[in-house]
Amino acid sequence: MATATVTSCVRALPVGDPGEPQRAERDDLLALARQPWTMHIGRTPIVVRRATVRDLRGVGQMHRRCSARSLLDRYRQGGRPPTPAALDAELRNPTGFVAVTADGGVVATASVRRDPGHSYVCAEAAVLVEDGWQRRGIGSELLSHLAGVAQVAGFTELIAYPGTAIPAAQRLMVEVGRTRMVPDVNAHLHTYLPEAATLGLGSVRQRLAG
Ligand SMILES: CC(C)(COP(=O)(O)OP(=O)(O)OC[C@H]1O[C@@H](n2cnc3c(N)ncnc32)[C@H](O)[C@@H]1OP(=O)(O)O)[C@@H](O)C(=O)NCCC(=O)NCCS
Repeated sequence: MATATVTSCVRALPVGDPGEPQRAERDDLLALARQPWTMHIGRTPIVVRRATVRDLRGVGQMHRRCSARSLLDRYRQGGRPPTPAALDAELRNPTGFVAVTADGGVVATASVRRDPGHSYVCAEAAVLVEDGWQRRGIGSELLSHLAGVAQVAGFTELIAYPGTAIPAAQRLMVEVGRTRMVPDVNAHLHTYLPEAATLGLGSVRQRLAG
């Protein structure tokens, strides 16, 4: 099984040409990154689609069903959920996603955005799976999708700030690329994204599965 290495945090600087795909290919990949896709948890279909501000109510309800521990690991802030204004801002992220059951209930959120604490090749990945749905594979599916989205958006490293959930986050990150742990004040994980990360896009995996 792949494991993460522990290193100090050398702020990653881009080296040379990141090898961006041609524009047309990149547009195709961006379209794939935005497409809704379906995962199956047992026999339950769960649709993952881009988040919008219309999800504010559902996402707020999901946060109220989460334990303080899960909220702490996702946001810090003493285990409290974000304010409605902060959630609203979060839902405006064009690379934010919600996982939704057939009855419309939100069971997980996931997003990727430029990490302001690192160089411009680094994106922060954030995942929150509602407690009742944890350890059923949703986190892995979402992180694989986020890695693909980050790669398509031109990032080469994915960073996660897992709070107390380091083993779980490490388990998810090593699946998508070479991972190292940075044990500083704000412990975090860096994962180098391989070219093949785009194969982790949910819509791509769905097509490959036929
Ligand atoms: C971390 C989190 C996203 C994992 O989501 P999940 O849906 O439970 O993850 P999965 O079911 O896909 O599990 C993936 C792997 O992680 C392992 N794992 C999950 N939770 C774990 C935990 N608390 N401790 C140790 N391993 C854990 C699983 O066993 C699984 O490994 P396996 O494939 O060898 O069995 C979820 O627990 C969560 O939302 N936590 C609160 C927020 C958070 O910590 N976010 C991380 C910051 S990115």
